[in-house]
Amino acid sequence: MTTIHPLEINFQDKIDQEAKIEPKDWMPDAYRKTNLRQISQHAHSEVVGMLPEGNWITRAPSLKRKAILIAKVQDEAGHGLYLYCAAETLGQSREQMIDDLHSGKAKYSSIFNYPTLTWADMGAIGWLVDGAAILNQVMLCRTSYGPYARAMVRICKEESFHQRQGFETLLVLSKGTEEQKAMCQDAINRWWWPSLMMFGPKDSESTNSDQSMKWKIKRKSNDELRQNFVDMIAEQIKLLGMTLPDSHLKWNEQRGSYDFGEINWDEFWNVVKGNGPCNKERIDARRKAHEEGAWVREAALAYADKKNKIKTVSAA
Ligand SMILES: [Fe+2]
Ligand SMILES: [Fe+2]
Repeated sequence: MTTIHPLEINFQDKIDQEAKIEPKDWMPDAYRKTNLRQISQHAHSEVVGMLPEGNWITRAPSLKRKAILIAKVQDEAGHGLYLYCAAETLGQSREQMIDDLHSGKAKYSSIFNYPTLTWADMGAIGWLVDGAAILNQVMLCRTSYGPYARAMVRICKEESFHQRQGFETLLVLSKGTEEQKAMCQDAINRWWWPSLMMFGPKDSESTNSDQSMKWKIKRKSNDELRQNFVDMIAEQIKLLGMTLPDSHLKWNEQRGSYDFGEINWDEFWNVVKGNGPCNKERIDARRKAHEEGAWVREAALAYADKKNKIKTVSAA
């Protein structure tokens, strides 16, 4: 028989009572590791997520669209920063996390390994990709680890703006010329299935799910969140007068939800394993940006050092 440590009982009690776990509190190693992995992966996703959209800043169709897109991409950088800070409270340095991303050891959301081919992709990403992210993130505002939950509250406010701007971009295209309508439909066709994959493997194949639920790291399963997403988007698409590329999509009166087709799981695992259309390009871009920013980090450190020295001298 295994005995449960009193600290562990106390820890689980706190979670059951909806109290937050804070950085200095005792926590099981596995809880620390799971949160560290999840929060750092999330941070990496925000930062890598800037790349496909950053690709269109110079080609935005108007000054207004360019300003909106720049603001959105900057928001994602901010999300990355809050999340790296939250992850650091679990005891890993930012340098280590970034090294792990660049070496391929750490993962980020596979959705960002798909290319952005037309301007309509900016709309589809905001509407579908940020839309899928929101469902996950709203749940995470109540996650049990305090710094993560608080970061998510701020992030969610910005994400809802992202989704609305994406939808509005598509709405304008959907009322445009025949070419614009076709571009809108094509972007939806290409982003729909990868967006569904963002919720991760099926519950029956998801490894850490039960423990994460017990620790209230997550509160809804992958399949539940995916279903919520399908139900939301299947209604919203009617306003665009477009269709989703799934012949099995159908309202199920009995379940009060939409039925939908099977995800191509081979494609999912292939992209996770690093063989998606843009995996290499994304990591190369991150590495290059990091190397080119080395002098900024060195200058900031030298400046902080100098300031500290002045402080020590004047305090003496
Ligand atoms: Fe974000
Ligand atoms: Fe976003």
